[in-house]
Formats: sequence, structure tokens, C-alpha cells
Amino acid sequence: MEELKAVLLEATQEAGRIIQEYFQGTFKIESKEGINNLVTEVDKFSENRIIEVIKKSFPSHAIISEEVGELKKDSPYLWIIDPIDGTVNFAHGIPICCVSIAVKHNDDLLLGAVYNPMMNELFLAEKGKGATLNGKPISVSVKSNFEKACLVTGFPYRWPSSPENSTDHPIRVFERFVLQGLPVRRLGSAAIDLCWVACGRFDGFWEYNLSPWDIAAGYLIVQEAGGTITNFEGEPYSVYDKETLATNGLIHAEMLGLIRKRK
Ligand code: IPD
Ligand code: CA
Ligand code: CA
Repeated sequence: MEELKAVLLEATQEAGRIIQEYFQGTFKIESKEGINNLVTEVDKFSENRIIEVIKKSFPSHAIISEEVGELKKDSPYLWIIDPIDGTVNFAHGIPICCVSIAVKHNDDLLLGAVYNPMMNELFLAEKGKGATLNGKPISVSVKSNFEKACLVTGFPYRWPSSPENSTDHPIRVFERFVLQGLPVRRLGSAAIDLCWVACGRFDGFWEYNLSPWDIAAGYLIVQEAGGTITNFEGEPYSVYDKETLATNGLIHAEMLGLIRKRK
């Protein structure tokens, strides 16, 4: 575990250095599917360096990373990488973006790291050993009064095909929370959203249609900080789930109720 952790930290720091070096500088930006789903050359520089660091120590491990996809499959160890989470923010010089890397062994998430170099915030979790922010233990908030909760969400680049007036359309769900008078923020980085739930800045987070690289590290960080994470059925979570609800545990049932509300 110590070697895994050392390599995870090295890869995270290297990616952070690259992100910071180009932040608010000049770099090429391209669109993926949809004009606002962006990828920059810095995503690729960060990704290449992370993979290089992992391969140097663990050449047989499997890797899945947002821009290159699956690199190897036949290993019980899987590295799940988002070389920049919050690319739209990064491309606009908004300092809410990070690198997110998790290590999975068979079905168990062992380690997760999320680093925002602009704020110099490194969130780290090890299965069964808690979560930290810059080395100090963190835990979710203790707020149980849902009416006073501070929430965060995100929106997909592509909307689901369900009609906009259907009660489970993301916009209608968002509307229900806002109409409760709750502060709902949209930061633009799911990994940071999860970490900010883990350290108690937010009491809850929900989003549709995330991918394993957006959530894997943040998932472990929330769990190890004492939070609860499920899908929108309230079932145990998997990084492959398309619906994510992460809370301090105390407001989970209320958030689930509002998300699942039917007319
Ligand atoms: C995105 C961010 C954003 C979320 C999107 C993700 P990217 O990741 O996490 O907060 O709303 O769904 O795709 O594209 O910046 O790596
Ligand atoms: Ca992402
Ligand atoms: Ca990304």
C-alpha cells in the first residue's frame, strides 16, 4: 500500500505542477462532442505524465483515463484518472479545477487523491484509514437541518432524452431544490464538489451522468470522511453508476426524497 500511495502522490503532484504551469496561460483548446465539452492540450500533457509515472512503477496495472480510455484490462489493479476535472473552468482561467486519481483493487477502492494546485488543496483517502486535506483529517458536516443545508450540483454536457417537464429531468430536480429556498452552487468540477462535501463546506451533492474518472477518488474521500454516497434509488454506490448523491448522511433521506419526488 505504501508504494501505491507514493506513486499516487507523485502522479498527482506532477499533474498539479503541469496544470498550474499552464493555468491562465496559452494552450490549445478543442471541443469534444458538443461545442462546450472541451479538452485542452494541458489535459493531455497531464494525462501523459500521470500514466508515465504509474507505468514506471506498475507496468502491469490496468489504467482507465478520460482522454485515452482503457490502456490495459487484465490486472486486479485499476487506476482511474481524470487528468483535469473542471476543464471548462481551466480553459476560462477559473481556479476550480483539479487532477483526480483513484486506485481500485478488484471491487475495492483503495486510494483516492484530488489535487487543486491553484488553491494548493490536496484531498487524500485510504480505505479504512480516513480522509485528509493537506495532511489534516477531515469529516463531513454535522448539519441535520435540511432547511439550512448548502448544496452543490452539476449539469451534464448532454441532456437526457426524457421530456423537460418530466419530474425526473435534471432541470426539474434542480428547480425543486432551488424552490425550497436552498443555496445550490454549481462549481464545475465533480471531484471538487465531492471533496467539499467531505470536508464539510457543502452538506450534499447530486449529479446525473458522471463517469468513473469524475467520481472514483472523490467517492472514497467522501466515504472515508464519514459521508454517505448512493445512487438515486438510495442503493449502494458504484463508480459506474450514472446517478450520484453524496451527503453528510444526516440529510441524505431528504435529498433523496426531493430527487425522487413524483407528481
Ligand atoms: C466535468 C466536471 C463537471 C461535471 C461534468 C464533468 P471534465 O468533467 O466534473 O463538474 O458537471 O459532468 O464531465 O469534463 O471537466 O473533466
Ligand atoms: Ca471530469
Ligand atoms: Ca477531465
